[in-house]
Amino acid sequence: MNFRQKLIVNGGRKLEGEVRVHGAKNSALPLLSAAVLPHGETVLHNCPALTDVDAACRILTHIGCKCRRDGDTVTVDASNVFGSEIPDNLMRQMRSSIIFLGALLGRMGRCRLSFPGGCELGSRPIDLHISALRQMGAKIDEEHGFLDCTAGKGLHGAKIVLSFPSVGATENILLAACTAKGETEIHNAAREPEIVDLAEYLIKCGAKIRGAGDGVIIIEGVERLSPCEHSVIPDRIEAGTYLCAAMITHGEMILTNCRTEHMNGFLQTMETMGARIYTYGGGKLYITGKKRLTAPPTIRTMPYPGFPTDIQAPFTALCTTAEGTSVFVETIFENRFRHVSELMRLGANIKTEGRVCVVEGVPRLSGAKVCAADLRGGAALVTAALAAEGTSEISGLTYIDRGYESLESTLRSVGADIKRV
Ligand code: UD1
Repeated sequence: MNFRQKLIVNGGRKLEGEVRVHGAKNSALPLLSAAVLPHGETVLHNCPALTDVDAACRILTHIGCKCRRDGDTVTVDASNVFGSEIPDNLMRQMRSSIIFLGALLGRMGRCRLSFPGGCELGSRPIDLHISALRQMGAKIDEEHGFLDCTAGKGLHGAKIVLSFPSVGATENILLAACTAKGETEIHNAAREPEIVDLAEYLIKCGAKIRGAGDGVIIIEGVERLSPCEHSVIPDRIEAGTYLCAAMITHGEMILTNCRTEHMNGFLQTMETMGARIYTYGGGKLYITGKKRLTAPPTIRTMPYPGFPTDIQAPFTALCTTAEGTSVFVETIFENRFRHVSELMRLGANIKTEGRVCVVEGVPRLSGAKVCAADLRGGAALVTAALAAEGTSEISGLTYIDRGYESLESTLRSVGADIKRV
């Protein structure tokens, strides 16, 4: 296991070269849950090799699915789902395990699971998920840390108005509504590209869904879904992290297999900081950040299509050496600045106050021992270490491995001096 592993980074080298973006973690995980719904074999291409994806496959195997990986293709045979209970040790491995709630209720009419684990970003309630499924006819009892859910007479459609466009709640409702009786409306639905990807997979399976990607999604329940082949969309956050790494080292990089239209929430900010970006057809993007960068206008994390909370930490790292003062307002999660104290060990000048973080740019960072406390915070430490003079040692790799496939070999291929010990 990677509990005792570390990344050793000798910083200060320009990154130059080409990086192929992997499939999106946040799409692959709900797609793997969705594979429970159709009776038969789902084939998912471009599925990233991540510890969170392995955790989803362990849950699928536990409930009776057969999962296998061949390169970047994962096959899930859900012909014979017999379990509807997910044990605590599997639930705790990641936050996304909660998405099995809607899928199992849809397929089995019942489900028992404990509260999910995942990165600690402050309290992460699931009240919106539970209230929506109750409106659709599920009976949900919470006892001793477990949720016992049944839909005795089956689920039915409902008009659900979310008080916040929660990604996970929108996914759970979508999954539960596909085979519910009648029509479900989701108002103030999340509009993330991962929602659209999930809906496209479900539509290929025979679901009747309109409006995914807009604020209102309408799902007309069907009797049964049939499996299909699907390719996971590219990971916009992984792509953004590599762009931050190219910019902070004043390098130049070509990304391939990306969807630049999913990245507008932060590409423009990169340009205001001084990066030059060219997008080409066919999922290709070129970036160069040769001069010293300047601080961007205030960054507020927002639901899609706004600035993604998941790229806030790598951007904070990027701003540590930008000229001027950068201000971040984290509106989505209450505790998402855990990377800040570690960035300060690398020489950054940052103050935080509640959900606001102020970064005063310094001319250079210097290598130090640091520890990741969550996935994207870990990516921020790697980003900063790539630019820091001297050697940095980064621990806490269990977090980083949840979301970045072959991080160090990818960075090495574009000139970084980084190894895992
Ligand atoms: C997903 C992403 C995560 C990303 C986040 C926001 C996956 C696997 N994870 O997480 O990487 O950072 O979207 O873009 O796709 N909330 C409630 N009650 C609920 C549900 C959510 O209060 O029932 C709150 C959360 O505490 C949080 C905010 O809403 O403050 C956003 O959560 P949500 O959009 O649900 O994020 P996740 O689906 O957990």
